[in-house]
Parts: sequence; C-alpha cells; structure tokens
Amino acid sequence: MSKLSHVNIVKIFDAKEIAGSNNDVSIYMVTEYCNQGDLEQLIFKKRGSLSEHEILNYFLQIVEGYQYLHQNGVMHRDLKPQNLLLHDGVIKIADFGMSKIKPEGLAYEENTRKVGTPFYNSLQVLRSEGYTNKCDVWALGVTLYFMLYGEVPWKIMAGLTKFNLDKIVEQVVSEGLLFPDEIDSNKRALFDLNPKVLPLLQQTRVSQETKNLLKMLLVLDEEARIDWEELFQICDSIKNKIDVGINTINENTNKRYLKRIHQSQNSQQIDLDDSKVNFIQKEQQNILEVIKELDIQQIIS
Ligand SMILES: Nc1ncnc2c1ncn2[C@@H]1O[C@H](COP(=O)(O)OP(=O)(O)O)[C@@H](O)[C@H]1O
Ligand SMILES: [Mg+2]
Repeated sequence: MSKLSHVNIVKIFDAKEIAGSNNDVSIYMVTEYCNQGDLEQLIFKKRGSLSEHEILNYFLQIVEGYQYLHQNGVMHRDLKPQNLLLHDGVIKIADFGMSKIKPEGLAYEENTRKVGTPFYNSLQVLRSEGYTNKCDVWALGVTLYFMLYGEVPWKIMAGLTKFNLDKIVEQVVSEGLLFPDEIDSNKRALFDLNPKVLPLLQQTRVSQETKNLLKMLLVLDEEARIDWEELFQICDSIKNKIDVGINTINENTNKRYLKRIHQSQNSQQIDLDDSKVNFIQKEQQNILEVIKELDIQQIIS
C-alpha cells in the first residue's frame, strides 16, 4: 500500500505491526495529514450550502483516485464519506483497512465476506453473497447521494432497523430511488427524518443528469450495475462538459471585454495596457466564482 502514489489517495509513509500482550497484533500507520478532516464532517458542517457543481467536483476526484487503485488491482471495500479525507480542497481516499489486492495477472478472488459499513454495503455484501469490485461502485453511489442530500437514501425511510436494512435497500431501489426534492404528500409518510432536517433536504435542488447518474450507480443487481470502466468514461465526459462550459465562458468574456475597450476607444487601435489586462483577469475571476455557484445543468446544457 505504501507504494501507492496519487494526489487523490492518502499517502502512507510507514506501517508497523506491534504485538500486544494477548498475542494480538496492532498495525500503526504513518500517513499524510489532511487539514480539512473527512468528507462526512464537511457535509454536516456545510449541510445544504455546497453547490451541485462543487459536489460533482469532489465526486470526479474520488473517481480519479479510484481509477489509480483499479489500475493497481486494489479493491477498497469501505468507501464512504468518513474514509474520504480533504486537504486544501483535494479529496484523498483513505482507510485501506478492508481493502483487498488482486493477485498479479489474475482476476479478483470471489468475495463473500461481509465487510465495510452497512449503510454503504451493496445487497450482495449485506447478504454475504458473492460480490466483485462493483461493491465500490455501489458505495460510491451512496456516498454521492449523501453528499447531495446530507443523508443516505435508506435512513430517510420510516421503519428502518439494522435487521431489515437489506429489505429496505431492496424496496427503495426497486420502487425507484426517493429524492427529498421530489417528495409529494403521498410519499411524505415514508420519511423518518427529524422534522427539522427534512425541510432542509427538500430545499436541495439536484439536476436530472446527476439523479440519472445516481440511478446508474445504485443498481441492485451486480451484473446490471455499471462497471468501473464505464464509470471512468462517464466521468471523462462530465469533466469535458464542465471544462468546455468554463472555456466557452472564458472566451466569451475575453471577446466581450475586448469589444468594450475597442468601442470605448472609438474604433482606434486596441491598446491593452497593464491596468486593462488586470481588469479583464479580475472580471474572469469573478465570473469563475459565479460559475462555481451555478447549477451544473446550466453549465453543461
Ligand atoms: N491522515 C489524516 N488526516 C486527517 N484526519 C484523519 C487522517 N486519518 C484519519 N483521520 C480521521 O480519523 C478518522 C478515522 O480514521 P480511519 O483511517 O478511517 O480509521 P478507522 O475508520 O479504521 O478508525 C477518519 O474518518 C478521519 O476523520
Ligand atoms: Mg475509517
């Protein structure tokens, strides 16, 4: 694990096994420090105030980190906001306590062991059935839902206990995922959240594209669930759309300001002195700030 080196993976510098008094062994790891803590803390702190664009940006970073793990034959098996750390706005996948390494040149062994965190476990993991590294696709779907709405989709269902979690998960997904911003009065009774929290979640507005992405990740049947290669492609196209949107706006801004300067000079030759260049750059910065706050749909449509 200490050989892994990627900006979106927490760096492990050293690990030591130390034997305890009862023949048990503890593993101590020295890792890079992440100055903004974990993603769960951030979501709770900022509940409702992160834009969809910022959340998708985090999501893309997690997928980039995972792509590196995938290339190195690592299956994480405990992806969740608590195990995603933040340092200066950069996401780092952490806590490899449940991860599994693929034997070189071979496929992943069949997994049936129930590991990880129940709310983020796929049905196959919850029921100790055979599962592949698509269990991490599922966990990422629950993580994205949590980032957008501040809760996992199962926790907002009435009647949830730790003994019926698999049944609730199956019911919620097969009936079509529930989104707090689409709750009508018929469905309201299904929600079991603190009445102070629900209105907050209902204010969140998530684009149809992102809801479709959630529905692709949270597919009950492993065979039918998208695999990592497909997800990498989808993320590339999301990234391109965002980049194209920003470049187009940059280009249009440049043109608009150059035109304005041109007009103000009565069609004389454009003379871009430092103050004008600074002015243009500052305006671009302001516009980029505004873009960050915009709904992703407005940027990519
Ligand atoms: N390198 C780090 N920088 C900052 N916070 C960390 C770091 N590593 C762990 N933490 C915090 O400690 C929590 C537990 O660490 P983790 O490695 O996930 O161990 P475990 O879940 O097995 O107890 C994380 O959810 C995070 O809040
Ligand atoms: Mg952890």
